[in-house]
Amino acid sequence: MLVNGKAYRTVWMEGGTVKLIDQRLLPHRFEVVSLARSRDTAKAIKDMVVRGAGAIGAAAGYAAAQGALEAPYHDFGGAVDRAAEEIRATRPTAHDLFVALERVREAALRAPTPAAGRQAAVAMGNRLADENARAGERIGEVGAPLLRDGMRVLTHCNAGWLAFVDWGSALAPVYWAHQRGRRVSVDVTETRPRSQGAKLTAWELGQAGVPHTIIADTAAGSCFQRGEIDCVIVGADRIAANGDVANKIGTYTLAVLAKQHGVPFYVAAPRSTFDLVTPDGSRIPIEERSEDEVLYVWGRTADGSVAKVRVAPEGSPAKNPAFDRTPAALVTAFITDGGVLKPDPAAISRFVLGGASAALGSPVSRGD
Ligand code: MRU
Repeated sequence: MLVNGKAYRTVWMEGGTVKLIDQRLLPHRFEVVSLARSRDTAKAIKDMVVRGAGAIGAAAGYAAAQGALEAPYHDFGGAVDRAAEEIRATRPTAHDLFVALERVREAALRAPTPAAGRQAAVAMGNRLADENARAGERIGEVGAPLLRDGMRVLTHCNAGWLAFVDWGSALAPVYWAHQRGRRVSVDVTETRPRSQGAKLTAWELGQAGVPHTIIADTAAGSCFQRGEIDCVIVGADRIAANGDVANKIGTYTLAVLAKQHGVPFYVAAPRSTFDLVTPDGSRIPIEERSEDEVLYVWGRTADGSVAKVRVAPEGSPAKNPAFDRTPAALVTAFITDGGVLKPDPAAISRFVLGGASAALGSPVSRGD
């Protein structure tokens, strides 16, 4: 993805150092942070310096690789496991984090010697990042045919290239169609409380030259009512075996509105987001975050500095579930790196266990 004309990935590794775009500072400042140790990278995931299911997956993989690089030869397995434990405790909802962590941990521990384990862990971290970028590109290719010329897409939170290593999930079909000259515009919900839509998605779409408009979360219903939305595409943090979806808080509301207004509701995600071990949405852990995210907002002031201001009365408490669960019955289709997939358990397990061709065998058309 280009930032002011220069190609970037969201997360990468140089030597033993993990490099991340600091997503807390966007859109006001573009800065890359360097994280020397596994513990630093884990903290960056927890503090949402890096966020978005795919990007935290890649970052977790690299953090695990750093854990292997730091592990002493005399206690290699023990130290790799302790680092993994710390990374596992950062954010509970996104499945990609656990998949990446496990694959790097296994690569490190399966190797015949600690030296080989270190090498294997770094190689796996890089491989996962490459897979993540390729999956996003493929989701773009698969999803773009669903977007006709002139279509108005509603998206929520940020499921673009900042939420992955590159390309993204929900925005990948938009980028794919836009690059091929199709006129597609995007309504971006601001996504309170952290405003990933207003801050990150709007910035990303601006960098890519995609026409877009930010709407208040509370304006979505009215936009549907006025016939201004042709389809919804969101990403996912975890998809249970029955097709229930955990995604950014507010996704469920949009799915209900889409159903009410007969608008297709697509969920874009790579294979690594599907969790066959979790039978349904009620079993997906939902992260609760600090009430400060609701009580305060961050933004740029008139003098150009970035500041945190309180919007609620002193003493009022808040609750802050970071994700909600959308039942499979409200999902029109999944747009995956293996094809467009019906939201039913058999199609999901064929796709996850059987590879891309299984998904391509279950196409659905717009509005099905
Ligand atoms: O809390 P965040 O910003 O990490 O949550 C991100 C989302 O919910 C996105 O919509 C999601 O990651 C899906 S796209 C990768």
